[in-house]
Amino acid sequence: MKAKVLRLLKANFGEYISGQRMSQMLQVSRTAIWKAVSVLRAEGYVITSLPRRGYCLLALPDLLTPLEIGEDLTTAILGQQIYHAQQIDSTNSWARQLALANAAEGTLVVAESQNGGRGRLGRQWSSPQGGIWLSLILRPQLPVYQVQLMTLLTAVVVVETTKMVAGLAAGIKWPNDVLVNGKKLAGILTEISADMDCLRFLLVGVGINANVALSSLPVEIQQLATSIVAETKEPISRRAWVQHFLKLYEQEYLKVQRDGFADILQRWRQYALTLGQVVAVQSGERTISGKAVDINEQGALLIKTTDGIKTVWAGDVL
Ligand code: BTN
Repeated sequence: MKAKVLRLLKANFGEYISGQRMSQMLQVSRTAIWKAVSVLRAEGYVITSLPRRGYCLLALPDLLTPLEIGEDLTTAILGQQIYHAQQIDSTNSWARQLALANAAEGTLVVAESQNGGRGRLGRQWSSPQGGIWLSLILRPQLPVYQVQLMTLLTAVVVVETTKMVAGLAAGIKWPNDVLVNGKKLAGILTEISADMDCLRFLLVGVGINANVALSSLPVEIQQLATSIVAETKEPISRRAWVQHFLKLYEQEYLKVQRDGFADILQRWRQYALTLGQVVAVQSGERTISGKAVDINEQGALLIKTTDGIKTVWAGDVL
């Protein structure tokens, strides 16, 4: 009911529509309309009311609620279930609990801010208001060794969504840091639950500094990070970013399970900042130095060293 009332109010944005008309159109009582309006107000929608004239929607909350993302979302699988929190420790941790409790494939978990955001390699991830902090629960038909490729797919979709929604061209530092002008714009944390070689679920966590003021990030990363608004000077519609992301992700996700990852790898190479560079990669205790020449069909980085080509499966490009 809440969604239907909101749709009517949005269709008449800035204009009054009477309670009676809405109740006729939706075939419910005027009390039901009034209740739905009260709930919408509590969620941050600015709705005025006048006797005999009805209700008028004046402003929408800038929130990634199920109501906002779910409206005119055209996916079939991703985001059909949405969990939203004003603040949570980590959307990946919340998604894990939901996945263990059998949440459906494609469930989206999103928060306005995180107070225990997690990054790769056990690092902290600063997640103030204005950013997009989300996790997807996936149950793909893929062997465990292809999980790294899902991370590359995610990076490609983040880059292409950002280009589409903000007109901002980002690049990818292997394996999945999304950078603009050498500064980090977005990060991806992929976690799995698996039995031997059977993948039970995959959690894809994405954090992007969308409308984040750099001054709201910890001082020590202010020089290393950037945000969409800092680059373009224009805040984006976070709702539009999430909707595009889900749409493109679903398309690519279905495609890789059908046709494999060749196309994604090609697009990843197109955005790669690492390839062709002389790099040092920290992988566990080892540092491997040389020219990054390519990635293999499983997403590992190939480095040409004085001892020949080395394959690096995981690590940090320094
Ligand atoms: C990295 O580059 O180190 C990865 C950062 C991933 C951050 C996102 S924000 C949403 C999701 N929840 C988390 O706790 N982490 C990921």
